[in-house]
Amino acid sequence: MIKFVPILKLKDLSVGKKKKVEISGEEILVCNIGGEIYAVSDRCGHMGVSLSRGEIFDSQVECPLHGSIFDLKTGKLISDQPREMIFKKMKKDFEDLLKDFGIPPVKIKPLKTYPVEIRKGKIHVGIERFLKSSGIPPVKIKPIETYPVEIKKGRIYVGVERPNGKSKNK
Ligand code: FES
Repeated sequence: MIKFVPILKLKDLSVGKKKKVEISGEEILVCNIGGEIYAVSDRCGHMGVSLSRGEIFDSQVECPLHGSIFDLKTGKLISDQPREMIFKKMKKDFEDLLKDFGIPPVKIKPLKTYPVEIRKGKIHVGIERFLKSSGIPPVKIKPIETYPVEIKKGRIYVGVERPNGKSKNK
């Protein structure tokens, strides 16, 4: 179930602007693209850098670290190559370095997208409600295991189960 959370006034996010917000621990990048508001995960699908530091152009954002380009409307990866030649060279050097160390390239994932609604002049971003309603079962808390203890001749013995089920003092 989706819960819409108010994050800021529409008038505070003018066309072409972006803002990073955090809702229930999720870092979300909210952008105004030509008067339409979109929200995607703020973490780059490559190595998790904050996209709020990246550049927005058209309806896309370019990661500030290695230049991957994502569509802000769909979250899809548009290109794994930066626009500027100098950054292309840096990316190539980085990939060569990983290869030298035998580290396989990191797969780039698309960005998670969030539904957006404007209510009474405020931007609301939809996030999944808490664990219970999202279908994730709560983690059961198990009791702590206890062991029998004996003190013999000033020494402490702890009883542990043997594989055959009999207990033994250590
Ligand atoms: S961290 Fe974004 S492209 Fe590498």
